[in-house]
Amino acid sequence: MKVLYAFAAAFLALTHAASWDSLKVTWNINPFSGNSFADLPRDIKKDAMGFVLMDNQCNGNQPKGPFAGIRYWKDNDPAVVLIFDINGIIAGIQTVVPKTNWALPPSTWLGSVITDDGKNFVLTAYFVDPKIICSSGRTPLDLLSQGTGTGLYIQNGSNPLTDLMIAAHDESQTQQHTQWIFGHCFYTMGDHYWYNVRSDMPCNEFFPAFLLYNKKQLNAFGWALNADLSSPRYEHPPHSLIGQFMNPVPQCFQTDSTFLRQSTMHIYFSSEISDLC
Ligand SMILES: *[C@@H]1O[C@H](CO)[C@@H](O)[C@H](O)[C@H]1NC(C)=O
Repeated sequence: MKVLYAFAAAFLALTHAASWDSLKVTWNINPFSGNSFADLPRDIKKDAMGFVLMDNQCNGNQPKGPFAGIRYWKDNDPAVVLIFDINGIIAGIQTVVPKTNWALPPSTWLGSVITDDGKNFVLTAYFVDPKIICSSGRTPLDLLSQGTGTGLYIQNGSNPLTDLMIAAHDESQTQQHTQWIFGHCFYTMGDHYWYNVRSDMPCNEFFPAFLLYNKKQLNAFGWALNADLSSPRYEHPPHSLIGQFMNPVPQCFQTDSTFLRQSTMHIYFSSEISDLC
């Protein structure tokens, strides 16, 4: 009986790992172009893929400030800042925008999902419960069995241990119990959900992140910023395309000039991107 249970547990762990088996950023119409669907490191000690230490946001076994974990970046590009736990296993991601490059972030979310660190506006998402990041961390074996993460925790305040929006794994939960609103499925992107999006909403209420479901399970998410940012990690969906993954499209996108050229980033937990609709 015990053996059977262990076998079943290992099987479940493996099937979960198969779904969150990687970490990739940036959608492109051409999957073979340089920056598209770029693989990111998940075990920094094993293979850093060019990422180097930015800073350590842990102090002892606690976060020392507004973020939890040890931060790494590549080529001094703050568009993708990776968060690792004390063992060097992937624990989250940030996009960091110098304030000079983002004139008017949606004011509703300042101090919430958008953290002001003095010089930058920072958006943060964790892939594990942030409580473990500075304390126990995960082992390479955990990474193998659990995959890139055990959940999606979008930070929405200054305390990384408590100020969190936790996304549901099941699409049906998100549909029935949250303010996330289904947009459309877009080939190689998945089913998009936008937070409380309305046709007549003021743009300062536009939530700068979205969720993506594939086969009814969460397997990607992304940022959507009303700023024209130059990092090749960002996508710039033409206005005509926005209606193909958002529904309704806020009318203010037509009148608020900061929304004319947005910078978005799709972040994938799964290597399977070919049949996301
Ligand atoms: C963060 O999200 C949670 C869950 O949706 C919510 O209860 C809380 O009020 C939010 N906090 C802020 C500061 O927006």
